[in-house]
Amino acid sequence: MSNRQRVLSGVQPTGDLHLGNYLGAIRNWVEGQNQYDNFFCVVDLHAITVPYNPATLAADTYKVAALYLACGIDLNYSSIFIQSHVSAHSELTWLLNCITPLNWLQDMVQYKEKAIKQGENVSVGLLDYPVLMSSDILLYQADKVPVGEDQKQHIELTRDIVNSFNHKFAKPNQPVLKLPEPLIRKEGARVMSLTDGTKKMSKSDPSDLSRINLLDSPDEIAKKIKRCKTDPVRGLEFDNPERPESNNLLNLYMLLSGKTKQEVAVECQDMGWGTFKPLLTETTINALKPIQEKYKAVTEEKGYLESVLREGKQKAEAIANQTLLQVKAAMGYSAPL
Ligand code: AMP
Ligand code: TRP
Repeated sequence: MSNRQRVLSGVQPTGDLHLGNYLGAIRNWVEGQNQYDNFFCVVDLHAITVPYNPATLAADTYKVAALYLACGIDLNYSSIFIQSHVSAHSELTWLLNCITPLNWLQDMVQYKEKAIKQGENVSVGLLDYPVLMSSDILLYQADKVPVGEDQKQHIELTRDIVNSFNHKFAKPNQPVLKLPEPLIRKEGARVMSLTDGTKKMSKSDPSDLSRINLLDSPDEIAKKIKRCKTDPVRGLEFDNPERPESNNLLNLYMLLSGKTKQEVAVECQDMGWGTFKPLLTETTINALKPIQEKYKAVTEEKGYLESVLREGKQKAEAIANQTLLQVKAAMGYSAPL
């Protein structure tokens, strides 16, 4: 057993991964991974909380796992697995459901936003989504959960569940579940849409022009940046609330080029959009090229991804099943025969 702190995170296999997922989440997993013992799952049980296509679920799940490797997840430090392959996630969700007050879930911002979009067809699963996410985290007794800003509320809920569980079922000073902490980097935590600088870049936006996907071709990237929303002002600047597009695109340029905020602010302060857009295009294409090449290599090697996921599942399951046993014992269940 290593004595490093443990990290757990995941992304849903719904739609293509975009720059928001990469800059807000996966890039941070990669950068921090050598300090921690990491578990990264593809959360395919979360993917069915909204209408989805069963014909593509399995392939989409594999695609996200391959993208984790393509983005630089290193198996020396990290395990990659598929959430639905470890049945403890579903089982712990049921147990935690029974100690989670309904109104905690009804208060979740993401639930309210998604529920409005779906009108009458909201499933119990959509409401329960944060409890499943709590189970993902708690099964691994994770210390840190690296995510984008939008997931902070779900981690706070997880902490409330831990406190409530330990209070009800654990002996004083012998907690059964560990309190996790969110790991949210300021830069990249909220990448905005290319077509509206006040909205989050999202997989569920009906317009593909609103996001740059990690596997977009150079032509697609050029087209999207050419058409992206700008404003009539000459010269780009950070942090002007009246110029959300300028701030967002400068942030993208900063993160993808690796330059500092100060360098970018000076470089672009007098630039017109006609000069800036080709610069951002080239920078984006260059930043995504190594990811796309690695993705190709990973998916072309027959059997490789399966072997990574099989090993990941074994490591994950050993830990998850142990936590599940501890939770059930604390809740008063008899030991399995
Ligand atoms: P999801 O696409 O909802 O499965 O999100 C996967 C991860 O990407 C989570 O950690 C999110 O917080 C992060 N994420 C999604 N969209 C954005 C965005 N526009 N900006 C920053 N992070 C994001
Ligand atoms: N809810 C997260 C999102 O949409 C994905 C997720 C599911 C997750 N389980 C998790 C993230 C556990 C971190 C830890 O972004």
